[in-house]
Amino acid sequence: MKLTWLGHAACHLQAAGKDILIDPFFTGNPRFPAGYEDRLAKVDAIVLTHGHEDHLGDTVRLAKRFDAVVVAQFEICSYVGGQGVAKVEPMNTGGTVVRDGVRYSMVPAFHSSAVIEDGKPVTMGDPAGFVVEAEGVAVYHAGDTCLFSDMALIQRLHRPKVGLLPIGDRFTMGPEAAAIACNELLELDIVVPIHWGTFDLLTGDPERFKQLVRRGRVQVLAPGDSIEVAAG
Ligand code: NI
Ligand code: MN
Repeated sequence: MKLTWLGHAACHLQAAGKDILIDPFFTGNPRFPAGYEDRLAKVDAIVLTHGHEDHLGDTVRLAKRFDAVVVAQFEICSYVGGQGVAKVEPMNTGGTVVRDGVRYSMVPAFHSSAVIEDGKPVTMGDPAGFVVEAEGVAVYHAGDTCLFSDMALIQRLHRPKVGLLPIGDRFTMGPEAAAIACNELLELDIVVPIHWGTFDLLTGDPERFKQLVRRGRVQVLAPGDSIEVAAG
């Protein structure tokens, strides 16, 4: 599996012949690697952790452009369906969907999930994290969340080997909380800090996180950087 970080919470997974985007915040993401969209030959699936605009991002446009399926919370699928997205896989927390050799499991996250329309929040259902498994490698994208002890159950059930954990603080875990997740609750081989450095409000420092993590190897990526993860 190849994993590319696109700045903020946006990631591109390539495995089992599939191209999967998670939380594709392209337009307006100051750390999105310029020109990356032009290098996408196809997109098979778009996975959304929640409905905030820094995660929903370019989903509707990209799903239409690439005829991709949106895998997300029931309410989000209804919302993007209403905006003309043809293919959706609605689900809810605790569920797993298998499609084209890829396993998508929706797991809890503590956050909120709404879009603001005419100054009012429109609910997008509960926020989530996802474990995406393909080619024998499971990746846990925690979404936007605080630290919670049931991350241990996510590890027990889905055995992720790679973690994409938010560390920016204010809206999510900061480095100290995310390090506790790694050291005490998860059993990850590789940890990539996300949701940091995008805006001045996100103050969590990936180097601080790296210092604190004792279990798992922290890979601080630059936007556009990739890692290859083999099964086993
Ligand atoms: Ni959010
Ligand atoms: Mn966010």
